[in-house]
Amino acid sequence: MTGGLADNGVAADWIACLTYKSSATASPAAGDLDLLVAKARARNRSLGVTGMLLFEDGHFLQTLEGSPAALETLWSSIRQDSRHNHIEVLSEHIVTARLFSDWDLLLDGRINDGPLNLRAAVALPPAVAEHVAHLVELSLNADDLGLNRLMAAFADDGWTADAIVSLLIEPAGRALGDAWLDDECSEIDLTIGLSMLQLAGHAVRYSPSPQTIRNSRYRVLLATAPGEPHMLGTTLLADQFLASGWQVDMAFPASEEALTNQINAQHPDALDIGLSDAVPRPHALTQLRSAVEHSRLVAAEHPTVISVGGRLFAEATATARTVGADYARSDVAGTSIKLAELVQRNRQR
Ligand SMILES: Cc1cc2nc3c(=O)[nH]c(=O)nc-3n(C[C@H](O)[C@H](O)[C@H](O)COP(=O)(O)O)c2cc1C
Repeated sequence: MTGGLADNGVAADWIACLTYKSSATASPAAGDLDLLVAKARARNRSLGVTGMLLFEDGHFLQTLEGSPAALETLWSSIRQDSRHNHIEVLSEHIVTARLFSDWDLLLDGRINDGPLNLRAAVALPPAVAEHVAHLVELSLNADDLGLNRLMAAFADDGWTADAIVSLLIEPAGRALGDAWLDDECSEIDLTIGLSMLQLAGHAVRYSPSPQTIRNSRYRVLLATAPGEPHMLGTTLLADQFLASGWQVDMAFPASEEALTNQINAQHPDALDIGLSDAVPRPHALTQLRSAVEHSRLVAAEHPTVISVGGRLFAEATATARTVGADYARSDVAGTSIKLAELVQRNRQR
């Protein structure tokens, strides 16, 4: 494992939990993934490893859990597998109980209009898209009780916090934006729906992680882009960074000056500036570029790692380079780990 979970003295019955994403090196043919999963299931069972594997649009997302030693063995095979590359570890935890206790490897595939129908091959889970649609409906109806119940049900079913946020809540935010762009709901409906999703995000529980101790000295300022009214991503990040032990400050600045004043006052190690997660606003990129540039100038004496996010980055319309940032998050999952790495690198310079 990247962090060596096996040898840091945890109790023998604790469970290591690893989530990563990667890109398929070639488009798998109909039988390829079935074969991969059949073999993986057999090996996972023999190693006592459980988890889930998602495949969508050429990307894998996998969560694996098992004894630190078993995971170490498996991970050294998986990370060398030439069927995927650009492997990015999103989270690595030690937990006391399994989330995927009954699933030796749950596969869910979503390939738009493709020849594969992987979901037909497995009984579980019901389509992720249906969950997203359900989430959108509850949000538009401002049904907070229903949302809380749904979040609790996902956790009971073994969904990790990262999976709930990046596979359900963030896509639901984009779906709400689409509904507004298509005139299917009013702007006020969109605002209410997004705040309902924020509440749903607060109900997501992150497991305690070894990161907590490691990052306790880091301070992050989580800001919406100047004048940006949508704050879903920023609030989702707040829960994640707090759970990882960061000191968290938040800013919803009306102007670039308000943002730079706050940076000046707080000297954060990392700054995240979020555009709307619901609607793509390409014209906002010019202002974001200016906000990033000026944030760097005020932070000159205390170099700050700057990350950006929002729907334009989730859909790869823009990159970190477009706006001069150090990192662009394509989703919220794993951001605190990525920024911790960048802050560490910054300090070693
Ligand atoms: C995205 C992806 C996920 C995989 N997941 C698993 C898994 O959960 N369990 C497993 O045994 N093999 C999995 N494999 C296959 C392993 O990489 C490897 O081929 C297999 O474990 C045999 O290992 P070996 O070649 O070291 O003998 C996965 C491969 C890919 C590309």
